[in-house]
Amino acid sequence: MEFRNVCQYFNDKNGGIVTAAEDVNLSINYGEAVALVGESGSGKTTLGRLSVGLGRPSKGEILLNGKNLSMFKRQELRGKAQYIHQDPYSSLDPYLSVREVLERPLIYVRDIKDPERREEIMARMLDGMGLESFYLSKSVRELSGGQKQRILLARAFVIEPEYVVADEPTTMVDFVRRNEIITLLSNLRTKMGTSVLLITHDVSVASKLSDRVAVMYKGEIVEYGATSEVLDNPLHPYTLALLSVTPEKLMKQEGPLLAATRKGTVVIPSKFEGCRYSFVCPYAFDRCRGERPRLIEVSPGHKVACFKVAG
Ligand SMILES: Nc1ncnc2c1ncn2[C@@H]1O[C@H](COP(=O)(O)OP(=O)(O)OP(=O)(O)O)[C@@H](O)[C@H]1O
Ligand code: SF4
Ligand SMILES: [Mg+2]
Repeated sequence: MEFRNVCQYFNDKNGGIVTAAEDVNLSINYGEAVALVGESGSGKTTLGRLSVGLGRPSKGEILLNGKNLSMFKRQELRGKAQYIHQDPYSSLDPYLSVREVLERPLIYVRDIKDPERREEIMARMLDGMGLESFYLSKSVRELSGGQKQRILLARAFVIEPEYVVADEPTTMVDFVRRNEIITLLSNLRTKMGTSVLLITHDVSVASKLSDRVAVMYKGEIVEYGATSEVLDNPLHPYTLALLSVTPEKLMKQEGPLLAATRKGTVVIPSKFEGCRYSFVCPYAFDRCRGERPRLIEVSPGHKVACFKVAG
């Protein structure tokens, strides 16, 4: 999966333009998991949806196996790239049975005609999810939040896709269930060799599940590299803020403006050419307000977009 100079702009309700993604370059290798982390509204879901063909980028291109997504037929792309929605409540029809949820992709995407074979695949899939096969007859509305989350994983992986976007796969579950979901996702991707784009604002989830991490701020990737390297040795001022423990602590340490950005209250004027973080960055200097920092490699594979760090 490859994003090349991807930009996405939306019209907001006041007639302005929202920059949800700005000049994003990112690639995900075969079998690799890359995490997108960043605060609410930083553009994570936007990139995830674009990467499975849900919408086209305003600029730039997205390729799967070297082929532009726009060249795929819809059904062909569904068989290769799956998106696990961040809200299991709205993305699963409560009136369907678990069987209907899982069987539809087997019929319409994998074109498996033999009902016994479908039954066998679904039972195996549920077993892998720690759910017994009688769950197939249950209705979605009878499931708990954690079970719904598992069915969403099962629905995506039953297709045996090459690439999966998991958008906040643990937000709807408590701490214990969170670890279970992470383990399931990790096992599935290892077993099937699937490439994963993991979207999360929870750095601990990224640390458990991803090989590399891209930190996003207001539509841009500001830091990128091997997960252990970025999390152990964060360099961008925003990554440092993101990794600090609580908003209260942040407020005390770095002043109210950083807390404000975590709440998404900083609005970047359109056509602003400087560093998008300069409105709240405690280290901002004149250059930051007039020029956009580009991602520069500071050590092998570790890139940072900041004049203070990378010059
Ligand atoms: N269809 C749309 N129309 C207008 N604006 C949109 C649309 N989709 C997203 N946006 C805006 O684009 C920006 C990025 O949104 P996105 O949903 O990608 O963020 P996110 O990082 O996934 O946030 P969250 O963590 O809250 O899910 C936000 O400012 C959002 O309001
Ligand atoms: S470029 Fe300047 S404003 Fe942007 S993060 Fe670095 S120091 Fe802060
Ligand atoms: Mg989102």
